[in-house]
Amino acid sequence: MSTSTQELAANGGTPVFDAPVPFMAPKLHREDIDAATAVLESGMLRAAGNCAELETQFADKSDAKFGLTCANGTCALQLAYEALLQPGDEVIVPAWTYIATASMLVARGCKLVFCDSLADTMQVDPDDIRKRITPNTKALAVTHLYGTPVDIDAVQAIAKEHGLRVIYDCAQAHLATYNGTGIGAFGDACTYSFYATKNLGTGEGGLVTVNDDALNTEIGLIRSHGEPEKYLHTRIGFNYRMNDITGAIGLSRLQRLQAETDKRRAVATLYDQHLAGVAGVTTPTVTAGADSAWHLYSLKIDIDALNCSRDGFSEALKAEGVPSAVHYPKSLTDQPAFADIVTDHPPVARWLADRVLSIPMHHELTEEQVKGVSEAVAKVAAAFG
Ligand SMILES: Cc1ncc(COP(=O)(O)O)c(C=O)c1O
Repeated sequence: MSTSTQELAANGGTPVFDAPVPFMAPKLHREDIDAATAVLESGMLRAAGNCAELETQFADKSDAKFGLTCANGTCALQLAYEALLQPGDEVIVPAWTYIATASMLVARGCKLVFCDSLADTMQVDPDDIRKRITPNTKALAVTHLYGTPVDIDAVQAIAKEHGLRVIYDCAQAHLATYNGTGIGAFGDACTYSFYATKNLGTGEGGLVTVNDDALNTEIGLIRSHGEPEKYLHTRIGFNYRMNDITGAIGLSRLQRLQAETDKRRAVATLYDQHLAGVAGVTTPTVTAGADSAWHLYSLKIDIDALNCSRDGFSEALKAEGVPSAVHYPKSLTDQPAFADIVTDHPPVARWLADRVLSIPMHHELTEEQVKGVSEAVAKVAAAFG
């Protein structure tokens, strides 16, 4: 143990922050509350003008042709999978993502093939996708994790070569771009979550973007009991609709989303600068050509060099007044829910599960807070190192 360990707040030293830095900033503004109140006062609570406008504006800002609001990001995945996949289809999905990307494939009756991710960007590894393609592969379901687009050129090239569908889980990647274009321009469908803590949060909520007219119509039908006209049901569907209170909050928050995303980008740049050269900690790398939405800023803790656990690092940071979180503590192949279908454990996903640690990232962080968080990270790393 080096002498600097004595200075850690966890060991009785003075913490970097007296009060914890907020990990996220999900608070509504007055105008969001007013927009929701207007809907409540109107009595038109079902999906109406606010949802329609949110669909148009969100699709437009994402460089997609159509947007379809829905109940949440899990429903958004289900809508896309229901429209684009068939039971029994073999689908390649990263082991390193949130469970819904994969579990909703199981719900669709698909055969999952878990693939690995890249250690630097933590995004899906196109070379590993290639290795896992079989004559039965029908689709790729990949996540722009932490808000950072995957290597879209590589994924689209694989899909083209093998005639595969591509569904992008963009739940964390609102307004992210790839080679200067919104991510909604790529793939067959993009799915979003508006969960309370997402970059655009409405409490619960979701949206699908597509660029094909027929697919837009189909997903619209699936979303609402396959009902093109009242009490005529042309296919089996669900009720995955959003309501207009949620739509109003989403539309109101959307007006600030670009500015808030720019602020997240500035925070990420500051973290990159402050944390460059801190031994034992690696800052996140972004895919070439991508502009991340920075939903999360996930460090990799070099637990071998620092001779500590990621959770021990997190505890020491907490004592300094810096909350952190783990996205995620397990590779999906280690989740009991998938035990029956796992054939192998992609190694990078497991490696990441032991090392990732997300530090505060949101649009309200001040330069002083970012500097202080970085100081705390460097202090803890030095103490363990
Ligand atoms: C990558 C990813 N996919 C899907 C979802 C599911 O979205 P929801 O919670 O809105 O159902 C989430 C939400 O955490 C997510 O992060």
